[in-house]
Order: sequence, then structure tokens, then C-alpha cells
Amino acid sequence: MTDPLVIPPPPAFAAQANVGAEVYARAEADPLAFWAEQAGRLQWDTPWHTVFDDADLPTARWFDGGRLNVAVNCVDRHVAAGRGEKVALHWAGEPGDGRTVTYAQLQDEVCRLANALEELGVVAGDRVVLYLPVLVETVVATMACARIGAVVSLVFGGFSAQALRFRVADTGAKLLIASDGQFRRGQAVGVKAAADEAVEGLDHVEHVLVVRRTGEADVPWTEGRDVWWHDVVDRQSTEHTAPSFDAEHPLFIVYTSGTTGRPKGLVHTTGGYLTHASWTHWALFDLQDDDVYWCQADLAWVTAHTYVLYGPLSNGATQVVYEGSPLTPHPGRHFELIQQHRVTTYYTAPTLVRTFMKHGPQLPAGYDLSSLRLLGSVGEAINPEAWRWLHGHVGGGRCPVVDTWWQSETGAAVIAPLPGVTPLKPGSATVPLPGLAATVVDDAGVETPPGVEGNLVITRPWPGMARTVWRDHDRFVRSYWAPYAERGWYLAGDSASKDEDGYIWIGGRIDDVLNVSGHRLSSIELESALVSHPRVAEAAVVGAPDDVTGQRIVAFVITRDTPGADDAGLTEELRAHVATRVGAVAKPREVVVVTDLPKTRSGKIMRRLMADMTAGRGGGDVTSLTDAGSLTVVEDAWAAHVAGRGDAG
Ligand code: PRX
Repeated sequence: MTDPLVIPPPPAFAAQANVGAEVYARAEADPLAFWAEQAGRLQWDTPWHTVFDDADLPTARWFDGGRLNVAVNCVDRHVAAGRGEKVALHWAGEPGDGRTVTYAQLQDEVCRLANALEELGVVAGDRVVLYLPVLVETVVATMACARIGAVVSLVFGGFSAQALRFRVADTGAKLLIASDGQFRRGQAVGVKAAADEAVEGLDHVEHVLVVRRTGEADVPWTEGRDVWWHDVVDRQSTEHTAPSFDAEHPLFIVYTSGTTGRPKGLVHTTGGYLTHASWTHWALFDLQDDDVYWCQADLAWVTAHTYVLYGPLSNGATQVVYEGSPLTPHPGRHFELIQQHRVTTYYTAPTLVRTFMKHGPQLPAGYDLSSLRLLGSVGEAINPEAWRWLHGHVGGGRCPVVDTWWQSETGAAVIAPLPGVTPLKPGSATVPLPGLAATVVDDAGVETPPGVEGNLVITRPWPGMARTVWRDHDRFVRSYWAPYAERGWYLAGDSASKDEDGYIWIGGRIDDVLNVSGHRLSSIELESALVSHPRVAEAAVVGAPDDVTGQRIVAFVITRDTPGADDAGLTEELRAHVATRVGAVAKPREVVVVTDLPKTRSGKIMRRLMADMTAGRGGGDVTSLTDAGSLTVVEDAWAAHVAGRGDAG
């Protein structure tokens, strides 16, 4: 009898798929030969002499001795192969404007900007920070940086000036590329002032290059430092000779939240990363020449680094890129774009699927989605109901759903199905991809039996792995590699269990990291933001379960003034404060004023107990609490808060 929970690949899909079942065994038999074969899909100027060098683990060296240029791989080689007229980007702007860019046009623009960057004094190894919406210019900028060997770091346009400033300062950037404004849910908002605030007094920033997007009047301007894109880029030549870079040359720095208040800048390098990004994009999304692929993530998130920028472009794919919010100007915007561009492959996020679900199946039913043949999900575990809704109501029951587990640290997908091969189980990202090895172990490193939760570990180095945390190598070693140092395993920070078939089911984070709408946020970073407000003495932030966003942020605060007093204005004040410190994505949904917080004897806040409470789970281990009364205080405050809110969750 077939298990109704297992969905085999549709036979017609399997028959034409890029990758067949034999690849798993072949990769397992010789992982290095497998990765060398995938690196061979790229264009190298100098071949590598050593596929993998583990002398400096956990900093691995992949394809040592090899040299290549990422932009040439992502753009020029497609033009050189006679595919210059193929569409690279169908860009859709939020207000309804749009632009189609071929690979030949993309090459011209990348070369122009590469020349302009050189004119502005940017050289290989310099850092360039981008604070831009999803524009053609954003794609061009990442490629132009790669072309000249500058290390790019993209900062989400919704982040505050202070969050941007931290990243500009931490990278020591020479150049910031920003825009005059951004569209935010239909409104044009000026952002140049925020960019100015972020670079103020940072002497390493020599220029701010400004893209005109919203046509703001009175853009604040610093003569000598600020330059308009249209002034310096448009007049450049479309000829640019691309140098080659070492396979381990840094390509980008992506910031992510960890367990301290300070975001960490993960450094990804050139040859191994591109190999991992390129092969997994081709295999996971079964890329065909006439596909129209769309990954809906903002370019600043790691998802888009790998599955909009480097992966798809290296494969010469045609993509849709969309500037706006998914619900602007109407909730069917994504389905309208799928219909308009005949999208074949739609890579989305569980939180968005759950948002669509709220509008009912009539939302996707209002559009012609017959072009779709494959769906993908990333960012958090997709609950089976959302999986089935996506599969049935968006994919018409015919499209495999590839649920891809990976992280900023892993560079590209690690656990995910091959759509023509791997039977699917809604809610599980299935099994490690060929060439990758991951499992679930207890704290001692022993594999847990089926159904028993443990720590998710990656047990073999892989080409896309981050090489370090920018300017904090110690933290890199400590965070990920120290816990299983003697075995050389990578600790992912997620709990998981395996089932009888070896399928991996991801649980929650094992650290103080929250996942809100697929955005990774650190409890401690949010608490630091809260206690920087003059009225807050102490704060504890936890993720409470939420039907749409997965988790929602609940902040428990002890106020300096009139402790315990409920203050209607305080919630809004603190939400606004966090938005300024971090960004709107980090605003607490709920603020609960308390007079005490549960702590261990060493003074650590026991967030787990509070998270359990907000989830309606009791009975956590309270033995390390200094004072059981502190938990009662919080429980009473929470009960009053819930009663006042008038619902249960
Ligand atoms: O907890 C896991 C969750 O997102 C974390 C990584 O976040 P970030 O570095 O921002 O990268 C997100 C996009 C790659 C993981 O530790 N996560 C991501 N994808 C999944 C997931 N959890 C379950 N299933 C997934 N498919």
C-alpha cells in the first residue's frame, strides 16, 4: 500500500527531469569527484589543482589554485555563447512600471558600472554596501562588484539607518550605493537621509552612489561625496576587461542574527559558493531553457543571493524580479505576475502561502496559473496544510513542491528534494542533496532514533559553506564548529528529527533566534534595542506561535518609571523605537509590562519558559530558576494581557 502522505514525482516530470536517481549514489561514492564535476559546469580561467583542502578547517579551501570571474560566469559567457538576446530579467516595479533586460543588455550595464566603480576608486577586496530596493540596478551592482573583485554586502531596504550604519561600519565599506527613495506598500518614501545618517563620520566611506528611483524632491546632498548613478554610470564604456580571482576570493558578506546582539557578517567566497549555488539551482528547480523562474525573496536576503543572483544568472535563466510587497497594490499581485510572465517556477515562503490562504482559494483561482510546473518553499518549515494549499490551489496538484532547508551559513540548499526523483512528504525538506551529508544527533553526537528530536548537524564540509564571520573568526569557530569539534561537524542551530525513512523534519531553533515571516531575528538584539529606550530597564523577547508569520515577537519589559503600570502609549513608543534601531520587521507585536523576569542563578533570562507560556505549553524545567515567584509574576501579567486583548493567541 502506498502511504497517502508520500507524494511521488509525477511520471511526466520525472521523465524529463535534469537529474535522475543515480546521482545520489554517485555523489555519495565520491563527494569530491561529484563537486569537481559540478564546478566543471562553470568557466574557469585557471583550473584548480586541489578540489578540497582541509588543512585550515573549519575554514575550508575549495578548488584551490583555480581562478574565475563570477560576473563572467553569470553574464558574459551566456552572451559569448550566442545567448545574448535571451531575457535575463523581467523586472516589475511596484507602481506598475517594468523593464525587460537581456543578457547582452545586462553585460553592457555591468561593464558600465564596473568602469564607474573603478573611476570612484573601488578596487578588488574593497567592500561595497548596497541599500537598495529590488531594482535592475541592484542586480547590476552585485555583478559589477563581483566583476572587479569588490566584496558586496546587501542591506534590506526596510532596515533602519542605524542597522545600515552598523553594516557599513563593520564592513569598513568604501562605497555605499543607495537610492533617493523606495516604494513601501504603494507609498514613495525618501531614504537618502537614512543613508546619510548611516555614513556620517565614517571616514572609510568615500562616496555614496545614488540611484534615482522615486524622483524625490530635495534629496539631501553632500558635494564631493555623493554622486548620481545617471551622472557617472551612464557615460561609461560598455567594454570592460574582467580580471580573474582566486577561488577563495571573498564574494559577499551577508549579515544574519545570531545569539548575541551583534549581527554576524558571514563571508562567502567565489569558486565553491558559485559551484554549490549554480548546481543546486539547476537541479532543485529542474531548470529548462524556456523556463521563467521567479524567486520572490528580496535581493538583500540570502535566499535571493543564491537563488536570484548567483545561481540563476550562472545558469543563464530567465527570471522575474519584483520590487514591491506581495500584497501591493492587491493581494493577487504575485498571481497576476505569474499569469503575465507565464512563470514556470515559483519559489516562495510559508508565511506568504499562509497569508494567501487567508484570502481563500478564490484568490489564486482568479488567475491563469497553468504555466507553473514547479514550486519551492524556504525560510521556515512549511506546515503540511500550507504545503497542500500551495500544491493544490497554486500548483493545480501537478507541480512538485521543493521545500529547501538551508541558512545564510550554508550558502545554498542542503536538505531538499530533487523534484524528478525524491518522493515528497508535506512538511519535510526530505533528505540531504547529493554531495551533502546531514543528520540528527544528541548532545554527545549520537544519532537519535527515528522520531526523537536532536540537533541538526552537517557532517561533511561542502563547497558553499561560509568561510568565516567577518572580522570575528573566533565567533565563527565558537558558534558552529566548537560543539562537535572532535568530529568536525557543523552545528546548524535547528532542532530536527528523522523518521523511519530517514526524512528530516526541522523543528525550531535551539538558540535564541526567532523566525518571523522567514526573517531571522535575535532575541538579544531586540532586547538590546528595547533597553536602549530610556523607559526600559530590562527586557526579554520571545517568539510566540502565529498562524501567518510562524512566530510573532512578544516583548516583556520592566520599566524604569512606575514599574508595573500599564501604559497604553508604551507599546507604540517601543515599537517605533525598535523600528528605528533595527527596522520595521523587528517591531514587537505585543509588549507586556512586568515587574520581574525569570532568570537562572547566573542571571540568564529563561526565555524558553516564557516562550512555552505564550504557546500555552506548561511544565518546562524550572529547576535552574533563582526565584519561582518571578515566573508567576510573568504568568500573571501574561494572563492579564491575553484577557485584555480579548483572544487566546
Ligand atoms: O531555522 C531554519 C530556517 O531558517 C534558518 C536560516 O535562516 P537564514 O539564515 O535567514 O536563511 C533563510 C533562507 C535560507 C534555519 O536555521 N529555515 C530555512 N529554511 C527552512 C527552515 N526551516 C525549516 N525548513 C526550511 N525549508
